[in-house]
Amino acid sequence: MAKYDNFLMDCWYVAAWDHELIDGKLLARTILEEPVLLYKGDSGKVVALDNRCCHRGAKLSNGRREGDCVRCMYHGLKFDATGKCIQIPGQDNVPPKMGVKSYPVVERDHLIWIWMGDVAKADVAKIIDIPYLRDPAWRGMADYMHYDADYRLIVDNLSDFAHLAFVHTHTLGGSEEYAFKTKPVAVERLENGFRVERWSMNSGPPPFHRKVVRNDAPLDRRNIGLMHVPGIFFLETLFTLAGSGAEQGNLEGARQYRNCQFFTPETRSSTHFFWNYLHDYQLDDPTVALSLHDSMVAGFLEDKFIIEGQQEVLDADPDFKMHGIVSDAPLAHFRRVLQMRIDEERAARATVHPAAQMAAAA
Ligand code: FES
Ligand SMILES: [Fe+2]
Repeated sequence: MAKYDNFLMDCWYVAAWDHELIDGKLLARTILEEPVLLYKGDSGKVVALDNRCCHRGAKLSNGRREGDCVRCMYHGLKFDATGKCIQIPGQDNVPPKMGVKSYPVVERDHLIWIWMGDVAKADVAKIIDIPYLRDPAWRGMADYMHYDADYRLIVDNLSDFAHLAFVHTHTLGGSEEYAFKTKPVAVERLENGFRVERWSMNSGPPPFHRKVVRNDAPLDRRNIGLMHVPGIFFLETLFTLAGSGAEQGNLEGARQYRNCQFFTPETRSSTHFFWNYLHDYQLDDPTVALSLHDSMVAGFLEDKFIIEGQQEVLDADPDFKMHGIVSDAPLAHFRRVLQMRIDEERAARATVHPAAQMAAAA
């Protein structure tokens, strides 16, 4: 099976948080099964190159950054920010075609976005706008987690609210009883994903929130989940005192959260997970962000345990058949949208480059 069966190629993926490239660090990261070198040059420009020296295949990430360039520390070939080889020690002429592939890359809102597909289609305007990642009215702690699982299993999990009560009983969820009482939410089907909105009135604060507000008063809670192709998820959460009229638009005294999550396939069965959980109150108290961060990590590890186990099952028997239940509607819709986009890309690639398609499938 070719990787093009699993990944959407022509879209922007998060390659790193900006803080991962501090101090001119050479970061090696496999993205969509391609070895990529990422770094920030002296000019402040972010560079993404094929992480294989075109001479003998040494890793450029084992090399040395020189200004905006990188030098392979095997035999000293030097490459500029476009991947062009500009120096071969001991050789007067550099063949004009000598070089490595470079990828379009954009730094925005503390994220480093990369385009792995057809360069001609890399439109910066298509990068999703996330105002709260740059707005000082929100505070969070950006972080990264690695998953040994297909990104689609993780995206399924986020599209699945029915797991909250069972997987996250003591961290993010509520009680198991809640799962039996709550009906699956209506999903708004969008061209590029979905939106769900769910209110829960007059219930105790979930554990992660209680830890920071230190108060058991009943709350009204609104969650809006937004999922975008290829694997970008936002959860907007609002808490107000029960009965304060939040449903009618009174947000006085509300405490809000913005959960931003970005999934980038590393390989068919492993994933880079970038996330930040932001809050909009007590911004001068760093322990709020720290506590929320730790609660989220605890929650994510609960998901990771289940999902990596699921991946093992699917690896052992790729023909294993899943059986849907009603609450799978959002994830089923998202899988359909994503697969449609992947299929369209494959069809276009087969028309334009039949030979390339055959080579990729081999
Ligand atoms: S392998 Fe890079 S210079 Fe020889
Ligand atoms: Fe979860």
